[in-house]
Amino acid sequence: MAEEEIVRFEHVRKAFGSQQVFVDLSLAIRHGEIITLMGGSGCGKSVLLKMILGLLSWDAGSVIVDGDDISGWNERAMLPVRRKVGMVFQNGALFDSLTVFENIAYPLRERGNNDRHKLSERVAEVLEMVGLPGIEHKMPAELSGGMRKRVSLARAVAEVPKVLLYDEPTTGLDPVNVRRINELIISLRQKLQTTSIVVTHDLPSAYMVSDRLAMIANGRIIAVDDTPRFRHNPDPIVQEFLTAMDTNIATNIATNIAPTQPLPA
Ligand SMILES: Nc1ncnc2c1ncn2[C@@H]1O[C@H](COP(=O)(O)OP(=O)(O)OP(=O)(O)O)[C@@H](O)[C@H]1O
Ligand SMILES: [Mg+2]
Repeated sequence: MAEEEIVRFEHVRKAFGSQQVFVDLSLAIRHGEIITLMGGSGCGKSVLLKMILGLLSWDAGSVIVDGDDISGWNERAMLPVRRKVGMVFQNGALFDSLTVFENIAYPLRERGNNDRHKLSERVAEVLEMVGLPGIEHKMPAELSGGMRKRVSLARAVAEVPKVLLYDEPTTGLDPVNVRRINELIISLRQKLQTTSIVVTHDLPSAYMVSDRLAMIANGRIIAVDDTPRFRHNPDPIVQEFLTAMDTNIATNIATNIAPTQPLPA
């Protein structure tokens, strides 16, 4: 694996029963980049993210994370790898019975950080970072969808991961929160040199945050390129996808999305 790479998929094959999801998927992700994965519903975007965390196995090929080929690794072996990788799940995946504080402190405690004062400081810091200062005492049920996503993000960054995986971080959020999350992804890279792998159907966000874009179709990566070049990729599947997304966006803007407002200070 080249020095500048942090995650590498090599000829990965994956089936669920008779359903072949990845036929031959290869992709190298560079240190410190923000790369967005696109592709139709069911093409395997979430599966790909879960493989990096070792939450799903594969049938052939390798997944290399920070120099280690994690193919076949068990839960115990994966623990140190998971420490390097934070994931913001599609639905937030918060523990409903725990306060915001306990949700964010959970992974820190699991790794032996039990100093109450230090935990409070860190939780306050990451809540501030996601624009939600002072909500430590709230329960997840009291939060809006956008707030849950941002708390999930706060939890994922609490440990300063090397790699952050975002599964549809802006889907279903209002324009102000979409912008807030996008700015956060960018600022995490600036502040912490975090590598980000983002899955999204939100084309303007993808263009705004990404150094590179990649597209999955037919069980493989069919295109990966710097953002400006990707937009002109001649592959007909890529062009069809981008055009369809643009059309959806135009329809959404025309029908129900309010103009973007400036962020409150
Ligand atoms: N644990 C699982 N067991 C069986 N099949 C699964 C499992 N996880 C995913 N799949 C299947 O693998 C395929 C890829 O799923 P995945 O969730 O990665 O899609 P996706 O690209 O994230 O789609 P979406 O954009 O709708 O979120 C789907 O057909 C799905 O049904
Ligand atoms: Mg998905």
